[in-house]
Amino acid sequence: MPGLAPRTSPYYAPGICEVMRVAEILAVGEAMERALALLEDGDVVAIPTETVYGLAADATNGIGVARIFEAKGRPRFNPLIAHVADLAMAERLALFDPLSKRLAQAFWPGPLTLVLPQRPGNGIHPLVTAGLDTIALRMPKGFGGELIARLGHPLAAPSANSSGRISATTAQAVAADLGERIKLVVDGGATAVGLESTIVKVEGGTLRLLRPGGIAADEIEAVAGVKLLRGQAAGIEAPGMLASHYAPGATVRLNAGKIATGEALLAFGSRRAEGWQGAAAMRNLSETGDLREAAANLFSHMQDLDRSGAKAIAVEPIPSDGLGEAINDRLARAAAPRDKINAAP
Ligand code: TXA
Ligand code: MG
Repeated sequence: MPGLAPRTSPYYAPGICEVMRVAEILAVGEAMERALALLEDGDVVAIPTETVYGLAADATNGIGVARIFEAKGRPRFNPLIAHVADLAMAERLALFDPLSKRLAQAFWPGPLTLVLPQRPGNGIHPLVTAGLDTIALRMPKGFGGELIARLGHPLAAPSANSSGRISATTAQAVAADLGERIKLVVDGGATAVGLESTIVKVEGGTLRLLRPGGIAADEIEAVAGVKLLRGQAAGIEAPGMLASHYAPGATVRLNAGKIATGEALLAFGSRRAEGWQGAAAMRNLSETGDLREAAANLFSHMQDLDRSGAKAIAVEPIPSDGLGEAINDRLARAAAPRDKINAAP
């Protein structure tokens, strides 16, 4: 719009439309139908849990999950926790052994997140798990649990704060931070626990503490009858670095202006790079150049092209604004030399 000063300018004044774009805050007792409608529409909703507020989307809806990353301004696609309504839903998503089942029965609903092997074909969108073959699961207390049961699908939800800020423990804190980017904050008052869930990865018969949180490690050890391993095991990296799982078998070439015959092509937008007709396989992240759609398609398209058997995947240039930053980050990791991405951070 001509005549408007940029947001960062001292002369910036929000237009009337921008002033009106603030999230509605509804108390838990009156929010259910509105929250369901937004989630069914592929939108996000901030919800209270017993730990911190979560920014939730239907975990089977790629556009909804892309909107989470967009609203948070996350520069990376970290895997998200899938929140379930009950143990039966959890067992449809992941493979439980007797130890993980005992922990779930002892601590759910509550601030324990279990990282487990995914059940193939569970319907979870690959953007939730960042393409990993494991999934982080948790059953929250209160409104979130009811909402998930009503929706009939798990909710992907990271903490409801913009990237780099601390987690929000009140609806007002969520609204102050994300209010211009989301439509609804469900107000359940101050959260009871006030810090994030404890994350434990179940690896065969062993348990590894990935993040300390709302349940003390010794409480978990008492139920499990084994000590929690700490620190990183080979093959488990910091969030966003989960290297070997992330890396396709094919080499990846970024910002390709010209496609060599036999390369697979990861396209973006409506204009094709030179030589595209000779590509061994092609997927377009978004014909219309929509970064939200591109984010939702990223992991499945990369997997498809990798499965095509082509030795190299050429990627057309993708803008780096908005979700483009996280998309380019992911692609840069896929393109990095294998010994580098597998090195400890
Ligand atoms: O209490 C909580 O856990 C809150 C509420 C909203 O449930 N959620 C939360 O989410 O703290 P988030 O996204 O801020 O943190 C989730 C952590 C991230 O560090 C992510 O890397 C890790 O869980 N994570 C998710 N899936 C994983 C996986 N498959 N393997 C290893 N780590 C995983
Ligand atoms: Mg967080």
